Amino acid sequence: MNASRSLRQRLTYWLVGPLILLVAAGTFVSYRTALDAANRAYDSALLDPALAIASHIHRVGSRIDLDLPSIAIDALRIDTEDRVHYQVLGPAGELVAGTPQLSAPPERLESDNHMFYDTTLEGERVRVAAFAVAVDDGAVIVQVAETLIKRDKMVMALLIASTAPQLLIAFAAVALFWFGIGRGLVPLDRLREEIAARSPRDLRPVPEDGKPQEVRPLVSALNQLLSRLNAAIDSQQRFIANAAHQLRTPLAGLKTHAELARRQPSTLELKSLLDMIAGETERTSHLINQLLTLARAEPGGIQAAGGEPVSLHQLASRDVREWVQRAVNKNIDLGFELEDAWTLGEPLLLRELLANLLDNALAYTGAGGSVTVRTHEHGGDALLEIEDNGPGIPESERGKVFERFYRLAATEAEGCGLGLSIVAEIAERHDGRIDLTTSPGGRGTLIRVIFPRLARGAVPTPELRQHATR
Ligand SMILES: Nc1ncnc2c1ncn2[C@@H]1O[C@H](COP(=O)(O)OP(=O)(O)OP(=O)(O)O)[C@@H](O)[C@H]1O
Ligand SMILES: [Mg+2]
Repeated sequence: MNASRSLRQRLTYWLVGPLILLVAAGTFVSYRTALDAANRAYDSALLDPALAIASHIHRVGSRIDLDLPSIAIDALRIDTEDRVHYQVLGPAGELVAGTPQLSAPPERLESDNHMFYDTTLEGERVRVAAFAVAVDDGAVIVQVAETLIKRDKMVMALLIASTAPQLLIAFAAVALFWFGIGRGLVPLDRLREEIAARSPRDLRPVPEDGKPQEVRPLVSALNQLLSRLNAAIDSQQRFIANAAHQLRTPLAGLKTHAELARRQPSTLELKSLLDMIAGETERTSHLINQLLTLARAEPGGIQAAGGEPVSLHQLASRDVREWVQRAVNKNIDLGFELEDAWTLGEPLLLRELLANLLDNALAYTGAGGSVTVRTHEHGGDALLEIEDNGPGIPESERGKVFERFYRLAATEAEGCGLGLSIVAEIAERHDGRIDLTTSPGGRGTLIRVIFPRLARGAVPTPELRQHATR
């Protein structure tokens, strides 16, 4: 059944189908009853002429004789509606009198017994009464057959009398049902009007009071959706406000410092102003980069279908030289412990994830500290771990640092607070989990990103592997 067909039509079809079956079954039962009644009413009347004929059968020598004048027989055959035939069969089944075309009874008849049965005579349906009369050495069968005209009339009359009310009730039921469903669906129409009349800005919940019980779950689901939509719009607005605020600060600095620089005659002063401008420009472009990455990682962002096999090992070793250079500049001991770990995903986003985690570790760990990057597989997981022995993230802050623009109060190093939210978005997009704990050394941060491991059979052969970390 077409899913979009109207409820009223669906419900009516569900009613009409079984109703037709019921009426058909009722009609069949009525027909059988009417047939029985007609047979009972007319069968005994049909037996009478057979008995009358039987009483006039005698044995004359070796012959069976019917001593009934033809005028009497004709009188017995008189009927206003049906044609009546008779037949007398001798003990050996030979025709003694009457119609030769009538067949013998379907069963053997004992003497003085009678039976009724249906058969055809010259192509016409007939009802037959058969009676067996005893003569010395056997039984003579007397049969009287009549056509079914008056019986059919009676059956038809009885059938109409019992079926017509059934049909009437069925039609009335369908009509009432059709009307009733229409009335019953009025609350849905009202709800539709109520929602259609709203302005697009009105995301208040739809009142559930006064709605029928069946509609309430629908309204409640709609309200849940509205409240989620509200929350999403709220967070979007907060995000835009935060982003605008974050952009405004370095841009205002940039403008002021550029103004000052223009009026500056001293080259030394000019140089320090230009340094500030360079710093502010870098912060702005970093923020814009982070915003763009976040937009790409969000659920609505561009997504390659299904992703491709990615080796976390190769991903981590790709930009080793740059990272080591940064670590050396800060006097941090950066180590890599890389084992094969394959997952399915988007290499560019996974690189961003790693870059943000490594950037944090290097940014927030003090000089003389150490940072370790690990990749390995464990059971059904492909793991990426970044461990440092820096200041660590207090337990109470571990949920919040994944929020956008959230930074720990004491953080000195520059940043805009988007790195970990980017990490969270990318991990979620790859069905990954993030585990944020204290390093086993009791100090510093250990962040573990757990991806689903790529099945062994799906790992590319070595020749293809260089493409996996594009
Ligand atoms: N490895 C770490 N050690 C200590 N604190 C950390 C570490 N990683 C993150 N944090 C804290 O969590 C905060 C949020 O980190 P996140 O990467 O989201 O933002 P950010 O580094 O401040 O800015 P961005 O990465 O966008 O430039 C950081 O400001 C810092 O206070
Ligand atoms: Mg960061």
